[in-house]
Amino acid sequence: MRIAVAVDGPAGAGKSTIAKVLAKRFNLMYIDTGAMYRGVTLLSKRNNVSPEDTDILCRLIKSLEMHFSNDRLIINGEDVSEEIRKPEISNNVSLYAAIPEVRELLVQLQKEMSKKYDVVMDGRDIGTVVLSEAPFKFYLTASPEVRAKRRYDELLENGINVEYNNIFQDIIKRDFIDTTRKANPLKKADDAIEIDTSNLTVLKVVDKMSNYIRRKMSNQL
Ligand code: CDP
Repeated sequence: MRIAVAVDGPAGAGKSTIAKVLAKRFNLMYIDTGAMYRGVTLLSKRNNVSPEDTDILCRLIKSLEMHFSNDRLIINGEDVSEEIRKPEISNNVSLYAAIPEVRELLVQLQKEMSKKYDVVMDGRDIGTVVLSEAPFKFYLTASPEVRAKRRYDELLENGINVEYNNIFQDIIKRDFIDTTRKANPLKKADDAIEIDTSNLTVLKVVDKMSNYIRRKMSNQL
C-alpha cells in the first residue's frame, strides 16, 4: 500500500516548509496543492478568465499540463513557481479555489498523483477529501499574527516589497473564504493530529510528526 501523509491548515501555519522536510525524511513526493490552485489563478488572469466564467475556466484547466519537478510547479512546460507567490495571485486564489468545478478537477488530479507515488500533500481539504483514507493526518495552526509575520518575512526575503498590514488582511480574508465556502471548506479532519506551530521550530514540528508516523507504522498507536 502507498504511504500518504495529509497536512492541512490555514495560510502561514508552516505547512509547505514542514512538508518538504518530512518528504525528505520519509522519501515521499511533496505535492503542494495550494500551488496548483495558484497556478490555475495565474493562468486565468493571464487569459482574462474571471471566476464567474466557469465553463471557460474548466476548459482552460483541462488544457493545462501540470506537474511538479523538484518541488517546482511546471505548467505547460513553464516553471511558474515564483510568479504564483506574488501578492496579486495570493489576493485572488481563494476566489478561484472556492468554485466547485475547479476543485473537482484539481482534486481528481491530486488523487491520481497519490495513486502513483508515496506522497505528503498539503492544502486545505487533504485530510477531509483528497486523502480521506490516509493513515497519517495533521492539522497545523498558528495565530494570525504569527502567520502574517512569517509570510511577510518570506516575501521580503524573496525581494517582494510588501506592507505587513496588507499581508495580515490578506490572511484574514483568505481564512474567512477558505473556512466558509460550500465546497470542501478548510477544517480539521476528525482523525487529524492538531499542532499549534506558533512557538515551535520547524524541526520540533517535524519531529513530533515523525514520531507519530513511526509509532503508528509500528502499530504502537
Ligand atoms: O501557502 P499559503 O498557505 O499562503 O496558501 P497555499 O497553500 O498556497 O494555498 C493558496 C490558496 O489555495 C488557499 O488560501 C486556498 O484558498 C486554496 N487552496 C484550497 O482551496 N485547497 C487546497 N487543497 C489548497 C489550497
